[in-house]
Amino acid sequence: MTLIDARNMPRHVGIIMDGNGRWAERRAEPRSEGHRAGSRSVRRIVRLARRIGIEALTLYAFSFQNWARPEDEVSALMVLLQEYLFSERDEILGNGIRLAAVGELDQMPQEVRHVLDALCSESAANAKMTLTLALSYGGQEEIASAARAIAKDHAVGRLRLEDITVDELSSRIPSQRVGSPDLIIRTGGETRLSNFLLFGSAYAELFFSDRLWPEFTEEDLFTAIESYQRRERRFGQVVA
Ligand code: FPP
Repeated sequence: MTLIDARNMPRHVGIIMDGNGRWAERRAEPRSEGHRAGSRSVRRIVRLARRIGIEALTLYAFSFQNWARPEDEVSALMVLLQEYLFSERDEILGNGIRLAAVGELDQMPQEVRHVLDALCSESAANAKMTLTLALSYGGQEEIASAARAIAKDHAVGRLRLEDITVDELSSRIPSQRVGSPDLIIRTGGETRLSNFLLFGSAYAELFFSDRLWPEFTEEDLFTAIESYQRRERRFGQVVA
């Protein structure tokens, strides 16, 4: 069993949940079965994150680029999301979890939006952990949208050029509402960020696991946190 230090927990953890498709292919099952197994991992990891006191967990559930996947895979993912939101309602509300979503949410199907919006409002006052689902999400798209809003405010004289600072930009980036991620985990063996939390990841610690997301266990999360705790975070400075 991996031992972690409760006094040095990452406050905000982001996870790129990769490898569902390969997990299914290895078992000669349709990719949608991989996503189904992946949503079981989501349940496990959300529970554990809440239990060990992680304040914010952001999950990359559907990227802006994922819309280009085959239609049946996209619909299977939308159904799974809806099922997840239905089945975890009590778990979320009963455990003080605040649900939030970031991304181009207008593109999400009405049925998903409906349950998502309802649970986000119902859980809005919860304060133990914020679970953010990144849906139809792209880090570049999010920055571009903030840039458009800033340009608009500048054009009408509401924002001076010198006030366009990192903090101002950050305040217009929805995924930054819970602060920058301290630790980003990617499963599935690839070592890239794939458009996830680009603004906030500036000083995030990165942890790459070969484990496919459906096989990612509680112990794997502990291993990632232990690795985080062994690192010295310098934020570009020199530590005396
Ligand atoms: C990447 O694996 C994963 C996704 C595109 C979707 C992630 C979705 C889930 C884990 C399930 C639903 C989410 C929730 C919150 C209930 P991939 O398909 O790219 O895998 P591959 O690289 O092996 O093909």
